[in-house]
Amino acid sequence: MTQERTFLIVKPEGVEQGHVGDIIERFEKHGFRVVALKLEQLSKELAKMQYKEHREKAFFDELISYMSSAPTVEIVIEGEDAITAVRSLVGEKDPKEAQPGTIRGDYGLDVMRNAIHASDSKASAKREVAIHFGNLTVN
Ligand code: PPS
Repeated sequence: MTQERTFLIVKPEGVEQGHVGDIIERFEKHGFRVVALKLEQLSKELAKMQYKEHREKAFFDELISYMSSAPTVEIVIEGEDAITAVRSLVGEKDPKEAQPGTIRGDYGLDVMRNAIHASDSKASAKREVAIHFGNLTVN
């Protein structure tokens, strides 16, 4: 088991529908610790940096408009095997396929408005934390 940090975004509809407290509580109850947190309406530029690996996808413009349309919450959490463990609490990308009891299974509306983003690898966590929290370190 290794201590890791990972990066999350509570997406606009997750904030609008009041799920921020419950989402953080789910992670804390599983032993993760919040190490950085902010509420921010992302600029289109920041959203494009966040999702740059998807820039050729047909859904890119829609995703950028959505992610910059209203406030989001950016979170860095730390704990044992955080990247993999957090993704299992988050659930499948498509809420229709996500298990009840996962964040997306409980709160996601569709594949874009799926409540929360979570880094999918150590490299992504490092890149995404650098975008949103500057020089905060990810071990
Ligand atoms: S892919 O290409 O679908 O496999 O990409 P994936 O890594 O699974 O998803 C990347 C993010 O893109 C969002 N997404 C979409 N948005 C709008 N429309 C469609 N069709 C769509 N498909 C995927 C999805 O919510 C992912 O966002 P994050 O923030 O990573 O959850």
